[in-house]
Amino acid sequence: MKPTSAPQNPADPRSVQLTEDGKLRHFLTLGGLNKEILEEILDTADSFVNMGEQSVKKVPLLRGKTVVNLFFENSTRTRSTFELAAKRLSADVLNLDISTSATSKGETLMDTLQNLEAMGSDMFVIRHADSGAQHFIASQISPNVAIINAGDGRHAHPTQAMLDMYTIRKHKGDFSKLKVAIVGDILHSRVARSQIQALNILGAEEVRLIGPKTLLPQSLAEMGATLYTRMEDGLKDVDVVIMLRLQKERMAGALLPSESEFYRLYGLTTEKLSYAKPDAVVMHPGPINRGVEIESAVADGPQSLILNQVSYGIPIRMAVMSMAISGQTQQKAKAAESNSDQSNAATGEASA
Ligand code: CP
Repeated sequence: MKPTSAPQNPADPRSVQLTEDGKLRHFLTLGGLNKEILEEILDTADSFVNMGEQSVKKVPLLRGKTVVNLFFENSTRTRSTFELAAKRLSADVLNLDISTSATSKGETLMDTLQNLEAMGSDMFVIRHADSGAQHFIASQISPNVAIINAGDGRHAHPTQAMLDMYTIRKHKGDFSKLKVAIVGDILHSRVARSQIQALNILGAEEVRLIGPKTLLPQSLAEMGATLYTRMEDGLKDVDVVIMLRLQKERMAGALLPSESEFYRLYGLTTEKLSYAKPDAVVMHPGPINRGVEIESAVADGPQSLILNQVSYGIPIRMAVMSMAISGQTQQKAKAAESNSDQSNAATGEASA
């Protein structure tokens, strides 16, 4: 398949993240990426996946590069696996502690980033509560810095979706034969939005969304998903069940009667899991809330891949970071070549 060419529209995160040759230079969203790039991420991650078992867990792909982790929202899995991934690629890593940084003295986000760029940073890994923050930064920052989205508002969490796709491919194989159900608080979930995009791009047979009407935006049907309000209907014959956390911190009003009512209707118990195929796998991006969206017997049971997902976060993030740095380097070389051609042409004209 031909790589997506990069239309030059800075308002569109899908174009900002690609080089003119259709390679990754930032990683902001899965929207607008093609199957070829997603498979390249999965295949690149495959080449890193066994590194954790080697005595020297390092490759030199980011040697001499500086990666800055900037998490404006809390994180355990994403922040730790990005740090480990960068270190395994031999980068120098700076974890900025936002709570003690000068942002609390009124410094703007762009000023903070420009100061970090002045220290020679090559990549910012950013989590932010505002949807679109990373796209804004990528459209403003110097071309020498790559921006990786570690989750923005309700909009996107593309590396999470890619590690989920890696987990599914590793354990279930061909996407075209798979029915996947995503269950719970779809309304507030950046993970669900990125997963729907990834599953569609990779050609999953069916993507189902299950939840109470108050947490199930009808607009997501336009992304190519089928909506269900009953677990018994939505889980019937699925191969993969992805549970989502109930994001109480993002709920402005009373969207649910109670947590116990939510658990009764949508919590994944052994009984409800029996509606799915007998060999169905269970996933959850974490953090899990036991007894709210998932029963411990299922979370810790033989069909659960929840901790596998966490482990695969490292090779997936290594893949994305190495591809973005490679895209940046190619783009810079091309720009330098073009400048040199223009300067030679000008010199030729002057001496002619
Ligand atoms: N899945 C996920 O984003 O987890 P963290 O919030 O711990 O990073």
